[in-house]
Amino acid sequence: MPRLPYQLRARRNALIAVALFVTFIYYLSPSSPLQGNTARDEPESIWLQRLMNQNAVTSHRSTSSFNWSSVTPKYPPGKIRNLPKGRPLPLPAVQLKFPAETAAAAKRREARRKQVRDLFRKNWESYRKYAWMKDALQPLSGEYKDQFSGWAATLVDSLDTLWIMGMREEFDEAVEAVAGIDFGTSSSLTVNMFETNIRYLGGLLAAYDLSGRPILLQKARELGDLLYAGFDTEQRMPVDFINFEAAQEGEGLMVEGTVVSASPGTLSMEMTRLSQLTGDPKYYDAISRVMDVFYKGQEETRIPGLWPIYVSMLMPDVVSGSAFGIAGCADSLYEYLPKMHALLGGLEPKYEKMSRSFMEAADKAFFYRPMLPGEEDLLMIGTASVNDFGDVTLDPESEHLGCFVGGIYGLGGRLLGRKDWAEDLGPKLTRGCIYAYQSMPTGMGPERWNNAPCKSRKQCKWDEKVFADEKRMRREWATHIPKGFTTTKDPRYILRPEAIESVFVMYRITGRQEYQEAAWDMFTAVANGTATRYANAAVLDVTKAEYPLRQEDYMESFWLAETLKYFYLALSPPDLISLDEYVLNTEAHPFRRPQSSRGSHQL
Ligand SMILES: *[C@@H]1O[C@H](CO)[C@@H](O)[C@H](O)[C@H]1NC(C)=O
Ligand SMILES: *[C@@H]1O[C@H](CO)[C@@H](O)[C@H](O)[C@H]1NC(C)=O
Repeated sequence: MPRLPYQLRARRNALIAVALFVTFIYYLSPSSPLQGNTARDEPESIWLQRLMNQNAVTSHRSTSSFNWSSVTPKYPPGKIRNLPKGRPLPLPAVQLKFPAETAAAAKRREARRKQVRDLFRKNWESYRKYAWMKDALQPLSGEYKDQFSGWAATLVDSLDTLWIMGMREEFDEAVEAVAGIDFGTSSSLTVNMFETNIRYLGGLLAAYDLSGRPILLQKARELGDLLYAGFDTEQRMPVDFINFEAAQEGEGLMVEGTVVSASPGTLSMEMTRLSQLTGDPKYYDAISRVMDVFYKGQEETRIPGLWPIYVSMLMPDVVSGSAFGIAGCADSLYEYLPKMHALLGGLEPKYEKMSRSFMEAADKAFFYRPMLPGEEDLLMIGTASVNDFGDVTLDPESEHLGCFVGGIYGLGGRLLGRKDWAEDLGPKLTRGCIYAYQSMPTGMGPERWNNAPCKSRKQCKWDEKVFADEKRMRREWATHIPKGFTTTKDPRYILRPEAIESVFVMYRITGRQEYQEAAWDMFTAVANGTATRYANAAVLDVTKAEYPLRQEDYMESFWLAETLKYFYLALSPPDLISLDEYVLNTEAHPFRRPQSSRGSHQL
């Protein structure tokens, strides 16, 4: 089927009347094309009607059907804390002052960057054609899926990527569609706070920061008010899942007994940015209470400086657990601490203190040098558990989700003036993930793997016997995997961004060409292995180079929001989304940082 011609949109106004009629028919018809799950093979006439439908809706409504700010909370917050006042501090520069690029280097880089944009464009066109306004396109079947309340997750998540890649016509069309999203209804009974916050709220705020389109802030505020309802609990701690109906009725919500720490810990940047942009401090107030709990508990845990993976917002209790990690389940709790320091212009000292403390402690508890046949000097990231006697045990199991950590030591190291973090730890952690990609015969890193840890980071001689013993201990997993790895426990690559994220940050900090080369190698491997007719799909086993690779009919919105954006930025001139002007949320949505020279009102 041909892609929808742009002329159609030009003719749209003339067709509005028809479209309204079609909308009317659609609501009457139980077998409307919107209710089917496959758009791929429908006749073009139906497909065109579908699009007119959506355009008609978006042209006539921009406010959600339920006003979330009109809900009276059962548990009122009392005194509201304001954003910190004053002139933002002049924080140290994050990015290298790049020397001028030669014409030959620029030409080669631009050719590579274009390939990233072309791949994004192919994905976007498929989403637009087969999954428009749905949460996700299914990349093998061309069908679609709603898994995040049905508010067009992929569309909202992709807005700023469209802007950054200069696809302005597509951006305008998508912004127009955002006006039609109704946060007053949800495709599921409960709303996931974490995902809604990082993908939708983060996506709207960043697209607003970049473009200044008022509708984006209006929708961000509507959604922020929905998420704010998730704090209507006895102790004003957030729930993990918002019961949609109970929240609308203002009945007050019950906090879950146990949650993963990243869940309550990853609301701070978005809520803070929303307060900064709207001038309403209530969102910042809400997350400040949560971050105070983490702040007070940080040095009281079994590994001071770090929080257990499982916490309770009911008690609340963030100190008593015994399992620790900085990858999945915990990741963005840590990630947001130095980023909050940047977003608040250094005016809230808590975030700097918490950052310094966790960065010291994580280095000791989780990072280890793996024993590798080439004796490469790099670091992997494990997890740790503590027994009742306080003994800490390292589990040398790494996750792709942990690959953001190199970038955080880069960014945090610069912001906090720790050269060793930015220039030694950050690069070694980043190289650990690059190594995991390069070692696999498909050039893609696995989701989860193990190596044999060396006792010392200084000296790590390859020892065939020690390695064989270590591998034998884990033999249930060890099959045909590359030497140096004792398992690839989960050998999938599910289009995740964390490795390229750290490569991007390291490039901006150091300017070293090796990072752009690594980015390009990763991109060519990923683009090849995950390619489908419509878009890109998760692959099931990166350890087997048997083409075509086995794939899953699955494409998360973060592929367009994060992975392709980071590939693109890593190959762009360094002033595009400079890390001295923006700080990116955990879904790669850039928020504007306050500039000390512009005065405090810029917060
Ligand atoms: C939503 O409710 C609030 C509080 O009652 C009110 O100030 C606001 O104007 C309402 N918004 C809309 C769009 O009706
Ligand atoms: C990926 O690379 C393999 C091996 O070089 C090749 O056989 C295959 O056709 C490539 N696939 C795509 C989609 O480019």
